[in-house]
Amino acid sequence: MQTIDLLIHSATQLCTIPPHAGGPQRGDRLGDLGLIEDGALAIADGRVVAVGATADLRARIRATRELDASGYVVCPGFVDPHTHLVWMGDRAGEFERRIAGATYLEIMAAGGGIMSTVRATRGASVAEMVAEMRPRLDRMLAHGATTVEVKTGYGLETETELRQLEAIVTLDREHPVTLIPTFLGAHAIPAEYKSRPDDYVALVISEMLPAVADTARVLGLERLPFCDVFCEQGAFDLAQSRRILEAARDLGFPLKIHVDEFAPLGGTELAVELGAVSADHLVTTPPDAIAALGASGTVAVSLPCTPFGLGHHDYTPARAILAAGGALALATDCNPGTAWNEALPFVLALACRYLRLTQAQALVAATLNAAFAVGRGDQVGSLTPGYQADVLLLDLPDYRHLGYRFGANPVAAVLKGGQLVAGTVQW
Ligand code: NIG
Ligand code: FE
Repeated sequence: MQTIDLLIHSATQLCTIPPHAGGPQRGDRLGDLGLIEDGALAIADGRVVAVGATADLRARIRATRELDASGYVVCPGFVDPHTHLVWMGDRAGEFERRIAGATYLEIMAAGGGIMSTVRATRGASVAEMVAEMRPRLDRMLAHGATTVEVKTGYGLETETELRQLEAIVTLDREHPVTLIPTFLGAHAIPAEYKSRPDDYVALVISEMLPAVADTARVLGLERLPFCDVFCEQGAFDLAQSRRILEAARDLGFPLKIHVDEFAPLGGTELAVELGAVSADHLVTTPPDAIAALGASGTVAVSLPCTPFGLGHHDYTPARAILAAGGALALATDCNPGTAWNEALPFVLALACRYLRLTQAQALVAATLNAAFAVGRGDQVGSLTPGYQADVLLLDLPDYRHLGYRFGANPVAAVLKGGQLVAGTVQW
């Protein structure tokens, strides 16, 4: 009989969420939960070592500790592949102006929006940034996120961008949630470059990208951060986005890109051409771009909190992306301008309604497929043997209550690497 560290047993439903051929769940095959009733999960050295029916695992495995999951749905920790978590200040006043009728792009063009958060963030030290971010990340963890991507992009000058990167790495090392850093120096054209945006693009390419690569090495990162660009009207056009992403690729950065949030500039095709790991937002994406995306290895990341947060009515054409064979993931886009939401279960609720995903599809999109959107699909997002034991106990009678219910937190316990790190379950 095998001896292991922890056996989670008697789960009403255990959702293992298997990868398909070592990759994400694509197209109309999205939603394979690998569901086991009265399920059990064996954990050793922080990893999943076996899954199966409780009776089967009990017959062959002895555990040092046990966790009775009867009455709970058990699933992998959520992965949030798109956030802007490191910011200072807030934009509650802008929200009030938007309620009165001003649009996001009007506020941005008048020097507010991203630039107003940049002004608040530029003076902050690494410690101040970490202190602002920590309670947000605590709340994300309490709502089930165990791996979270975080972008820079509120510095738009080399020094502050590097401090944001250092803040992300610092918090990653002290917090149970795994943080995955992304350099987003091309988030907006800063006010001082408004009349000469190409000079800012040149600064990103010649100064920031090499400095980020150096800092990543000094901080001891195993791999380079992602490089992302906001390809959008009023931000970076297609040619500028291409220059930045090609330069990043040549330095070895894996790529991401914000595309088609308000206007389709061709960024989705660019993502596919450059082999970006993900293309994110995807609201106004035209049919031929959807076809190219669906046939590619680039993960489509939908951020339904953004149109919701802006009070818009158009969402990602998720069903068309799935019909084209695409790999679809979900994220919060947590940021102070468009979507200050720290709870992935609410993203699932929006996705079920406005993307018309089933509950099972939404759950896979926020776990396994989201992990592939940050290049970690072989480590997290599934409860298959070999994966990290990042596990949620959901206080729900059936997984189909995910997305159906919203507003309250269904997460009763969060395990990270087999350790209980949040929740209310007594152990
Ligand atoms: O993903 N689109 C660009 N970035 C964010 C908004 C950031 C902000 O307004 O501060 C987004 O929606
Ligand atoms: Fe974003």
